[in-house]
Amino acid sequence: MLDSHRRSTSMSRLSDHVDWQYVFREYWHLYRFGSAGGNRVIRSHLKDVRNRLNAELEINPEVTFDQPNSLPVCAWLGRAMDQGLNERTAPLVRSLARVIDQLTWRYGYERMRKGLARKYAYAELMGPNGPVVSKKLILGLVLFAPRCTYPEHSHDGISESYICLSGSVSDSNYSVFTPGSLLFNPPKRAHRMTTGDFEPTLLAYAWTGDEDKLAHQKMDFSIKK
Ligand SMILES: [Fe+2]
Repeated sequence: MLDSHRRSTSMSRLSDHVDWQYVFREYWHLYRFGSAGGNRVIRSHLKDVRNRLNAELEINPEVTFDQPNSLPVCAWLGRAMDQGLNERTAPLVRSLARVIDQLTWRYGYERMRKGLARKYAYAELMGPNGPVVSKKLILGLVLFAPRCTYPEHSHDGISESYICLSGSVSDSNYSVFTPGSLLFNPPKRAHRMTTGDFEPTLLAYAWTGDEDKLAHQKMDFSIKK
């Protein structure tokens, strides 16, 4: 799924896409004014995301769209967005509503577990594969249906943060996060997510790491399929 057919377009730049510029402005705002909870490691991750985002915005990056699509979990997207507009992260949700029809939803795996295929998908906003092209930072959205379990996995060489925009998500067996909360996973940390019983969950994520690691994202599942 990662390398699905790319729509041929004439090349454009971020400055040609006003609604997308505001998505990244709101993203930046969350990573600038969101709390690190007094944690030094998380504070430095927030700063790293901001710095990488600033550097990309500075060069007015290339934009290349894949064919927009829908996967089964997108049936919950409307509700997730509606609920997200009631939360303190509403400015990002509102800006996303303007570009939501241009997103390409993916699974990220060639073979998906059946249950997960109906309840999960992600859409990249910025990264080596676009739509806004960056080698240094991956930003995107993950959408989960209610009662979804995303199996335990870790990321090699990638620091990952999620900001909850809608719904609720648990991190392994330790914590529950609601809109405005941030989950941080340093490289190699195994994590498993489950989502609330009744509402879908929408998360904004950021991945930082070396260019090589970002270009060849590899998920390590603790339990092999
Ligand atoms: Fe993860």
